[in-house]
Amino acid sequence: MAHLAKAAALLRGGGLVAFPTETVYGLGADATSPAAVARIFAAKGRPRFNPLIAHVADLEAAHREGRFDANAERLASAFWPGPLTLVLPRTASGTVCDLARAGLDTIGLRVPAHPLAAALLREVGIPVAAPSANPSGRLSPTRAADVAADLPLDPKRDAILDGGACDVGVESTIVSCLGATPVLLRPGGVAREAIEAVLRCSLAAPGPNIQAPGMLASHYAPVAPLRLAVASLELGEIGLDFARRLDGSTLDLSPDGDLSEAAANLYRYLRELDAARPERIAVAPIPPGGLGSAINDRLRRAAAPRI
Ligand code: TXA
Ligand code: MG
Repeated sequence: MAHLAKAAALLRGGGLVAFPTETVYGLGADATSPAAVARIFAAKGRPRFNPLIAHVADLEAAHREGRFDANAERLASAFWPGPLTLVLPRTASGTVCDLARAGLDTIGLRVPAHPLAAALLREVGIPVAAPSANPSGRLSPTRAADVAADLPLDPKRDAILDGGACDVGVESTIVSCLGATPVLLRPGGVAREAIEAVLRCSLAAPGPNIQAPGMLASHYAPVAPLRLAVASLELGEIGLDFARRLDGSTLDLSPDGDLSEAAANLYRYLRELDAARPERIAVAPIPPGGLGSAINDRLRRAAAPRI
C-alpha cells in the first residue's frame, strides 16, 4: 500500500493528511507535534480553545493516552472501532501535545472503524489529531472532493486519501467519562439508546458551561439560512425532504424514512442545495431517537444565528 506509506511519511514529517473515517473526513496531523497540530488550526481557521480528537489504532494505544474507568472500558469494548469518542482524564505519560488538547487535562480519544483510517493509524503508529476536514463552523466533508474544494492544502507537504463516501455521515458521538455518570457531549453516529443499554444507566446532559466547544450553537452551517421542521415550502425556499413529506422539495434525505440513510446523505445534500444559492433551505421534520437526534442536533446548529 504505497499511498499509505507515503501518507504516514507525510504525517511524520509534520504534514496534513485528510483521510476518510466512517463518520466524516478528518484532517490529520501528528498529535504529538505542536507545529503539525498548529497547521490544522490554521487550515481550518479553528479557535485554539477547541480541542482535537486523537485518533489511535487500538485500545492499547488509547490506554497510553487516557485513563479508562469501568464505564469507559465498557464503552470501548462495545463500540470500538467505531463512531464513538471518549473524553477521559489524560495519562501523565500521554504523548498528545497540549495544543491538540487545547491545554485541557482531558483527552478525546477515538478508534475509527473505516479500513483506510485503521490502516493509516497502524502504519503511522502515533496518535493522529483529526478534526473534521472543513473550515471551522461549516459543513463537514463526507467525500474527498469536499475536502479538496474547501481546504487550502499544500500539495508538497499534505495529501488527501480518497476512500469514497463516508457511510455514517455524521460525526462521532462524544461521551465524557470523567465523573461517576458519563455525559453525552455530542450526539452522533452511535445512538444514545445503544450507549445507555451498554452502560445500564442514562447519560447525563452537559452542564451549562460549554464542555465540548463543537457544541457552540452555530456550527455545521451552509451559507443559506435554514428553516426547520417545515410542513410546506415558502417562496424562495428550496426543500430538503425526509420520507416524502414536502411537496416540491428538491432532495429527500431518505424517501423510505430510514434515519441511517438520512444521516449518510445529510451533509452532501445540504452542500448540493446550498450550491444553488437559494434564499433559504427548508427542511422537513426528522423524527427523534436513534440517529435522528444527531441529525436534528446538526440541523439546529446549522439553523442557529451565526456568530
Ligand atoms: O467523527 C468525528 O468525531 C470526526 C472524525 C474526523 O473523527 N471528528 C470530529 O472532530 O468531528 P471535530 O474537531 O470536528 O469535533 C471534535 C469535538 C469538538 O467539539 C471538541 O470540542 C470535542 O470534540 N473535544 C475534543 N477533545 C475534547 C476534550 N478533551 N473535552 C471535551 N471535548 C473535546
Ligand atoms: Mg467538526
